[in-house]
Amino acid sequence: MDSAAWDAKYSAEDLVYGAPPNQTLVEFVTALPRGRALDLASGEGRNALWLATRGWDVTAVDFSGVALTKASRITATAPRSVRERLTWVHADVTDLAPEPIYDLVLMLYLHLPHEQRRKAVDVALAGLEPDGFLMILGHHSDNIEHGIGGPRVPEILYTPEELASDVGDRAVIHLCEKRLPTTDSGTAIDALLLAGKSGLGTGNEPG
Ligand SMILES: C[S@@+](CC[C@H](N)C(=O)[O-])C[C@H]1O[C@@H](n2cnc3c(N)ncnc32)[C@H](O)[C@@H]1O
Repeated sequence: MDSAAWDAKYSAEDLVYGAPPNQTLVEFVTALPRGRALDLASGEGRNALWLATRGWDVTAVDFSGVALTKASRITATAPRSVRERLTWVHADVTDLAPEPIYDLVLMLYLHLPHEQRRKAVDVALAGLEPDGFLMILGHHSDNIEHGIGGPRVPEILYTPEELASDVGDRAVIHLCEKRLPTTDSGTAIDALLLAGKSGLGTGNEPG
């Protein structure tokens, strides 16, 4: 989907992905000390807002202007201290050149054809500071047949192993696994990758 198609989707519904943060993000990131986060493909900002509420400074990037307008409208009611920790950036994530300053880089439910996904992973790795964590989460290739929700387009889904291969030897893989999140309508199948440029043992890794 291009940015116009995403704009149309976000215009047609109120909160497409709901207000609460992603449950896997909450599970792994609650254990991390706050720092700087880069949220690639931030959508309506549910995860960026949760991070900012917990004291993270967040740069949230999406190429849908409608999603970003909704995100800033939603966060307008947050306390000033939270709003001041949020920066919204309207850009294509595959074109970014972030500084390597982020303690946490997120790429949640960004589904792109393989070449573009590799570019997005390159951008994510470029943004990581030496002890930072990268979290990539999205619908698993098996989700089409065995899970609920998500795109029904095999070319843009992935396995955790494919994500690990995109990362290659540029980062240490901490976790590479299938997840089975439950929703009101059933169980989905997700692919999760947690990686970092340094090995474990910093004391900052998620539990
Ligand atoms: C399924 S939504 C996920 C939003 C958010 N990560 C979440 O979990 O709520 C996918 C998002 O990716 C964005 N997106 C897709 N391709 C993009 C690209 N090349 N650059 C920036 N954003 C992109 C869309 O606009 C959309 O907001």
